[in-house]
Amino acid sequence: MHFFDYKGKNFYAEGVSVEKIIKEVGTPVYIYSQKTLKRHYKAYDASFAKVPHLICYSIKANSNISVLKAFAEEGSGFDIVSGGELYRALKAGADPKKIVFSGVGKREDEIEYALKSNILMFNVESPQELAAIDSIAGRLKKKAGIAIRVNPNVDPKTHPYISTGLKKNKFGIETAQAIKEYINAKNKLKNVAPIGIDCHIGSQITQLTPFVDALNKTKELLSELRAQGLDIKYLDMGGGLGITYDTEEPPHPSKYGEAVIEGTKGLGVTLIFEPGRSMVGNAGILATKVVYTKEGTEKNFVIVDAAMNDLARPSLYGSYHAIKAVKNSAKEEITADVVGPICESGDFLAKDRILPKLKAGEFLAVMSAGAYGFSMSSNYNTRPRAAEVMVKGKEYSVIRKRETMADLLKNEVLVADPKPAAKKKAAKKK
Ligand code: LLP
Repeated sequence: MHFFDYKGKNFYAEGVSVEKIIKEVGTPVYIYSQKTLKRHYKAYDASFAKVPHLICYSIKANSNISVLKAFAEEGSGFDIVSGGELYRALKAGADPKKIVFSGVGKREDEIEYALKSNILMFNVESPQELAAIDSIAGRLKKKAGIAIRVNPNVDPKTHPYISTGLKKNKFGIETAQAIKEYINAKNKLKNVAPIGIDCHIGSQITQLTPFVDALNKTKELLSELRAQGLDIKYLDMGGGLGITYDTEEPPHPSKYGEAVIEGTKGLGVTLIFEPGRSMVGNAGILATKVVYTKEGTEKNFVIVDAAMNDLARPSLYGSYHAIKAVKNSAKEEITADVVGPICESGDFLAKDRILPKLKAGEFLAVMSAGAYGFSMSSNYNTRPRAAEVMVKGKEYSVIRKRETMADLLKNEVLVADPKPAAKKKAAKKK
């Protein structure tokens, strides 16, 4: 459910016409609906209202500080995977006691920063990381809350790049080894407190079964750990609930809630969730201008000013994003590839798509672009990154300015010419 729709022929984000934003801010531009963001948070929160729970929005999906602020205002916690994300979360007003830190390669400086910020817990992904956290916490005279991310060997039935809970994936620790690590943490590591179990099996999951399978395996682990005397308070189920890009029918968070509440009855744990895509995916669009159209004997192309550097998902995963005309006035239709200006054949936003036949200078809206859109964007082909806009009712604000040419070079240094003295020495040596 989102708040992007046509009013007559014109496409709107809540109460603001997309064309108005485009005229004032330019293209390509990411446009987010704050009402949709808040609605999604509330849908999750309400789905678990009956039980102790914490929603930790997964920052990687969309890390704009104003997006984070919108969630922090609702009481959301955050799932971070880097020091940079921690910095953003704190700047956006996050409560550190509602932050969990995931990721297989946490660096020493990041662990230190998180400990000093007093986050809730680290989702530990390897025995070496556990030892590192214990040693850094000892040096800082802190006790680190930890959960071990277990790898339950459950197939989430999603794209292989975003499937994470199988033995062949780099994430987490297999259950048998995790038990040993928990016991080791309890008996030998003085500076960590094993308070949780974490399990994230993948992303864009459109069925409940993989979640339920993972939950059942996690429950077995919970009772084993409790039998060993560990005081586990948190069960972190990760993120992963899918959204509708095309014809998918993922379960509503309330259905997910029912299944998880039923499955965790009487366990006496606080549930943690780390949703990313389902919180922001359908709350954002990418608006782009048609630069040229080209009709060939085999293919038609609509060449737009957004590219794989702005939205990598179609090129990277072959993923589908619906595309709509910002002004729906064309009567004729065309089947075309929507492509960007980047010098790679993999630079496309859509393939063989039936679209209204637009002319150069008209605009398109790429739907469901709020998750893993801007946050995965780059400057490839020395393209300035897009602007980002937040709509609130009848108003909007630019929440990230479009990058300028100067921004593109601001961290680069022209290599200095050798000093005259050095030049002479070099000449003498010859
Ligand atoms: N927690 C952990 C530990 C994660 O690795 C992820 C996503 C999430 C939570 C949030 O998952 P979500 O609710 O968004 O499914 N770039 C890919 C998706 C990568 C997902 C990475 N991890 C895409 O565009 O489809």
